Parts: sequence; C-alpha cells; structure tokens
Amino acid sequence: MNNKNIIVLKNQGFCFGVKSAIEMLENNINTLPKPVYLLGNIVHNKYVKKHFEDLGVIVLENETRSKMLENITHGSVVITAHGVGGDIYKIINDKGLTYLDTTCPFVKKSSELIMEYVNNGYDIIYIGKKNHPETEGVLSESKMIHLIENIEDINSLSISNNLIALSNQTTMSVYDIENIVIKLKEKYPSIVVLKTICNATKNRQKELTDSLEVLNGEKALVIVIGDPTSNNTRMLEKRANGFKNTLVCKIEDSSMLDMNIVNNYHNIIITSGASTPSYIVDDVINKIK
Ligand code: F3S
Repeated sequence: MNNKNIIVLKNQGFCFGVKSAIEMLENNINTLPKPVYLLGNIVHNKYVKKHFEDLGVIVLENETRSKMLENITHGSVVITAHGVGGDIYKIINDKGLTYLDTTCPFVKKSSELIMEYVNNGYDIIYIGKKNHPETEGVLSESKMIHLIENIEDINSLSISNNLIALSNQTTMSVYDIENIVIKLKEKYPSIVVLKTICNATKNRQKELTDSLEVLNGEKALVIVIGDPTSNNTRMLEKRANGFKNTLVCKIEDSSMLDMNIVNNYHNIIITSGASTPSYIVDDVINKIK
C-alpha cells in the first residue's frame, strides 16, 4: 500500500529519568570499587543491560533487592532508576558497601509524598505491579501501604481508617487510574488522590490517545517499541488496544517487524517506551519508510 500515513509520535527515546540514570553510571563506572553490581536492570531494556555488561558490570536479576545483596561482600552496588526502600539502604550501609543511587527523581518524589501521608496517619492504597522494583521499594516502607493491581482488587480492600490516600507506580496508565478512582470513591468517599504518574508516562499516553482519536475509528496499525519488562511500554500497548479498528504490534526492535502486516496498513503510528534507545526507534522508522 503506497502513500502511507506514518505518524511518528514526538515523545520517543529515553525519558529524563532513564537518561540521567545511564549517564550517572557511565560517568562513575571507572571510579566505583570493583566489582560493580547492578541491583536489577538500571532501566528495563536488554540493550542497555548488554551495554553495561560489556563494561564489566554484573547485573543481578530475578530476586528481591535484599536477596541480591546477600552474597555481596565487597565492591559497589548501583541502585536502579526504580529506586529501593529504606531497608535496602540499611543493608548496604551495614555491609559497608559503596553505592551509586540512580533513582529517578520522580520515583523519589512520589515515595517521599507517600511517606509524608503515612506519617500523618493515612493508609495508602497503591496501584502497582506486584514484584516490580518500584512497587517492591514502596511497599517495604510501611504496613499502611496496600497494593492493588487492578480495579477488581478494590473488592478485597478493608481499611477502617478514615484517612486514606491513593498513590501509584509512576508508570501506570492515566486512563486505568481514572476508572479506579471512580470506583474507590464509592467505597471510600473521602480518599485523597495523590497524582504520582510521571510526566514521561503521562505525555506518551496522551500523545498516543490524541493521535488515535484524530483517526476517528479509521483502521490503524500501532507499533509500540520497547522491552517486555518495561511497564510504561506495556501501558502504551494496553491503551492502543482499547481503540477499535486498531492492531497493536509490540516489538523490541526492527527485526521483529512483520512487513506483511505493515504493508496492509495506511495509518501507522509509532510510539516507544521511556527506556527504549532512540537508535532502536530510528531503525524501525527507517525500515518502515
Ligand atoms: Fe522516571 Fe518516569 Fe522515566 S519514573 S525513569 S521519568 S518513565
């Protein structure tokens, strides 16, 4: 199909938090005591992981942060952009390890706000993904923080405190949260809603929504580029799936692009997660063009 309408969304490549985490590690790698351990992936992207492994960093995965620290006796550890709870800082300090903290400022600000409310006697309902490092860090801070993963989980909440606030992982869907807030207000009318979705996530979701709304139901292919473990990438995929006449292809790089599908569409929207390197996005765009 010729004369394609290819819409490359403006917000592509690394977000501010990812960029700064990567730069911090790159700038400090030579001076950090060796070996250098990464407590999880610095950001959720396999290309970034490989980049640091090639520089000699040991990437620890698939365990809780405290488990990862169990066998580390010397060298240094790197806290990823997703942040950790106070218990992890304590273990690191007790072991006398040097650490580099690359926590995204948005994550830091969000957990500080949550703790401010906890310290003022609030129970917090927290929307997040179980086992996601950011959620793991927040939940470890207080027993007054209750995790829900979706709207259905509201039924299992039983909080008797009159002081309740709602917060969330910084990379959740703005649109899912709107629906959760409506349902939560029926159960807890006085709930205080803390707005803790980061700008990068919000802007990408909004831009994608706007571009699909402009098409007004016309058939479209949405290509979402990102790592399967990236939450904000998954949220983009989920958002696009909510539109009729839209096929969503989530790919990690251009090698996963099915040109037979691409050739069947006139309208093609290209978006990417906040931890997807620009060169991967450019590669996909070039292949399509
Ligand atoms: Fe931070 Fe949001 Fe990026 S939490 S790492 S600015 S996706």
